[in-house]
Amino acid sequence: MENVLVIDFGGQYSQLIARRVRELQVYSELIPYDTDIEKIKKKKPRGLIFSGSPHSTLSKGGKQLIVDKEIFSLGVPIIGICYGMQLIAYLLGGKVTGRGRNEYGKTMVKLNTNSLLFKNLKKDEICWMSHKDCVSKVPPSFNVIASTPNLPIAGMEEPERKIYGIQFHPEVKHTHSGMDILKNFLFNVCKCSPGWTAASFIEDQVKIVKNKVKNGKVICALSGGVDSSVAAILVNRAVGDKLTCIFVDHGLLRKDEDKYVEKTFRKNFKISLIHVKARDRFLKKLAGVTEPEEKRKIIGNEFIRVFEEEAVKIKDANFLVQGTLYSDVIESGTGDASRIKSHHNVGGLPEDIKLELIEPLRLLFKDEVRKIGTELGLPDEIVWRQPFPGPGLAIRIIGEVTEERLEILKTADAIVLEEIKRAGMYKSIWQSFAVLPCIKSVGVMGDERTYAYPIVLRAVSSDDAMTADWVRLPYDVLERIGSRIINNVSGVNRVVYDISSKPPSTIEWE
Ligand code: XMP
Repeated sequence: MENVLVIDFGGQYSQLIARRVRELQVYSELIPYDTDIEKIKKKKPRGLIFSGSPHSTLSKGGKQLIVDKEIFSLGVPIIGICYGMQLIAYLLGGKVTGRGRNEYGKTMVKLNTNSLLFKNLKKDEICWMSHKDCVSKVPPSFNVIASTPNLPIAGMEEPERKIYGIQFHPEVKHTHSGMDILKNFLFNVCKCSPGWTAASFIEDQVKIVKNKVKNGKVICALSGGVDSSVAAILVNRAVGDKLTCIFVDHGLLRKDEDKYVEKTFRKNFKISLIHVKARDRFLKKLAGVTEPEEKRKIIGNEFIRVFEEEAVKIKDANFLVQGTLYSDVIESGTGDASRIKSHHNVGGLPEDIKLELIEPLRLLFKDEVRKIGTELGLPDEIVWRQPFPGPGLAIRIIGEVTEERLEILKTADAIVLEEIKRAGMYKSIWQSFAVLPCIKSVGVMGDERTYAYPIVLRAVSSDDAMTADWVRLPYDVLERIGSRIINNVSGVNRVVYDISSKPPSTIEWE
């Protein structure tokens, strides 16, 4: 497969570079900077991109991340970004100097538009800088192709060997012509042809999974969320009925979620599905429990137990599908493919279930996964589903989980989602849901005094759940949600809106 590799020196934007290249329809993935050169050759890259890094080529005694110099003799075009550029200068006989201070933010850069890298760009462009060191002398045979008022060498090239370096970041949106620069590198310098799409990704992954599984058997813990659904359908396309999905229904899911899963997977996609209806089992374990971490632990452990009981029934299963995404890999703080992500539903799967992992989505971002899902024919209801926590509604009932409270919360939550969808806001909101704090307040309905639960409405915007802000929902949407809940959900007499951001609050209440 035609590809361009990002050699990763640990920069905060490394994965974003790969993603931008994929957006330009050229397949790209990250490889660690110390990958053996023979491995790199085997992948037959059309180009190499050296990423940024929190480290410095100047560091003495500290960590200095370098590549094998043989990389410059492969005849493969190279572009170094930020640290990547400094590294090229350092290794090829130029000079890198510490500036003693950071240069950070938007800067005007003057470009030599005779360089193939800057073809068809304006001579003056806005770019995004984030660096401490800089190249103070280019290596012999290199030309300077970009500069800023503070930085005489903001770009360099050696066109014969097709080696380039830029101090600024083309992958971030603040560099206005960043995508044009990447395009020039990919299509004019590396001579790639754009062809990598959701469809071609699926085709490649189907081949890879087929080759891996051969005559084996595969199981998948299906939650009904975007990631595990897309992974399951993709693997199903590769291995057909060798895949069995296990859907552990702990009874803490949103209203009708179980029906969606049944309809989509069993009925539409004809996937072999084990639907474990374990609601009573979970509720029994949760009886009397109010402490949030204890709830999580109980649900996590019980989930594993149920999953394990079902998994051992599938004789000779040797693979486990997980919908791990790139963000999960980062969150778990590991690039180790064999580790099951800690916050995932099957997080603590016991060691003695010897299953090899299949993680077809581990290089992708959420929105890329959504595109793959659509291409696979998954309905919008699944592809665009908002994230939902593994412990489900149990961590949205603030107090003991009982059947009555679950029913109240499910009904209220369904109204929230219906109204958010009706207002056309579902896709743009990160998460919108109801919370049931187990306190009661006084109200009046007809001529009767009521003493009932409040429902808290929570709607947040976010890119990655690390930070979030509350959504400024229009008053009429708030009004409709409030009055529908109070009028239709018995046991509720008050609706309030949570206007806390994260931090200092969290998205979930527990
Ligand atoms: P917080 O509440 O920490 O949530 O701001 C951040 C994001 O993570 C989701 N979340 C979970 N997801 N298992 C999950 O799969 C969990 O135990 C869990 N707890 C929180 C939450 O919905 C939000 O998107």
